[in-house]
Amino acid sequence: VIDIRKLYGTTGAFTYDPGFTSTASCWSKLTYIDGDQGILLHRGYPIDQLAEQSSFMEVAYLLLNGELPGKAELETFTNTITRHTMLHEQLSTFYRGFRRDAHPMAIMCGVVGALSAFYHDSTDINDPQQRVIASHRLIAKMPTIAAMAYKYSVGQPFVYPDNTLSYTANFLKMTFSVPAEEYVPDPVIVDAMDKIFILHADHEQNASTSTVRLAGSSGANPFACIAAGIACLWGPAHGGANEAALNMLREIGTPDRIPEYIARAKNKDDPFRLMGFGHRVYKNFDPRAKVLSKAASDVLDRLGISDPVLDTARELEQIALKDQYFIDKKLYPNVDFYSGVILSAIGFPTTMFTVLFALARTVGWVAQWNEMISDPEQKIGRPRQLYTGPTQRDYVPVAQR
Ligand code: ACO
Repeated sequence: VIDIRKLYGTTGAFTYDPGFTSTASCWSKLTYIDGDQGILLHRGYPIDQLAEQSSFMEVAYLLLNGELPGKAELETFTNTITRHTMLHEQLSTFYRGFRRDAHPMAIMCGVVGALSAFYHDSTDINDPQQRVIASHRLIAKMPTIAAMAYKYSVGQPFVYPDNTLSYTANFLKMTFSVPAEEYVPDPVIVDAMDKIFILHADHEQNASTSTVRLAGSSGANPFACIAAGIACLWGPAHGGANEAALNMLREIGTPDRIPEYIARAKNKDDPFRLMGFGHRVYKNFDPRAKVLSKAASDVLDRLGISDPVLDTARELEQIALKDQYFIDKKLYPNVDFYSGVILSAIGFPTTMFTVLFALARTVGWVAQWNEMISDPEQKIGRPRQLYTGPTQRDYVPVAQR
């Protein structure tokens, strides 16, 4: 037994908590999760009510300001965001510095980090007005940045924002329009996309949000902090899981092959896991998965797509929900199980899935960053460690080694 207090000369409590599974890093009024009950609330409002009845702009306002907007407030907020959707023209040159086949997440990390070099009037974190402008700029410009990353990666010309459209319709148009054919966003697709954005807007202190807060705790500017969050989200264990779930469903291919994969998931000697199943926090069901299950049907029906991937997903869900292994381990479909099916039906390549997650989560990152900066108890994040290297020893010149 090591006496940590002696080892580190500390008198206070010193905990070893890899993955911070039992450590609260902050107070927060934004998002509440009860994993055992399958509850997710933003500022007190259940996620399913927000997804079914509100819009992404309303949720953004709610997360940033604490209350749902009135009609006039929503209009003003939406206009403000719309006004900031353009990117500094010089940024298109910046895009052209990337390799043509660059991953859109790599481009996004770089471009968002570079915003601080273009918008000097919103990098002073001690000025509340500058913080508001930076927040609006980040939320507004993210669809433009994401769509441009996509356009660049497929070799098509950039499409400028259309201020007559909603936040989500504008994003779809910037992504899918080409000079020869203007993309006219379908209301069912816009609605499903808006739901996906709402469902990904915030999820308390997940890895990328904690990264944004940690970066911000040193006083770094907001653009740099959000770029750090994007880098963290890129990992397959975080933002990349819906891509993995879709790949798995495609690999299974048809419902008759499901038992083979269920058997593999249960086999302790096989590292295979059912992607899109299980969650660190939700041990009953993921409320976001329920909303997306219905949205998947709506989108595929609307597009007239009969995709065996969706049939496979539905059948797999039914089989797993009745299987004792999954019941005992409290494994249910998570938000990633259906989102990949929807995004692929809309026409997004899998490389864009994490980009879309980053676009939506920017609202949560920005709200969390603002909350942290305004917290009088905020201090620089500085975890400790348990040192396991050599004890002190003397340097030996290289000739004598
Ligand atoms: N398929 C099969 N078995 C599983 C699965 C799965 N998807 N998930 C967990 N298990 C089993 C584990 O083998 C383990 O079994 P054991 O007790 O016999 O050792 C038990 O359930 C507990 O698993 P842990 O990994 O300890 O659970 P944890 O809560 O740490 O992990 C996680 C949650 C990482 C999400 C896990 O369920 C998983 O890997 N799921 C697949 C990946 C995925 O869908 N990720 C997306 C998460 S949602 C998001 O990030 C937005």
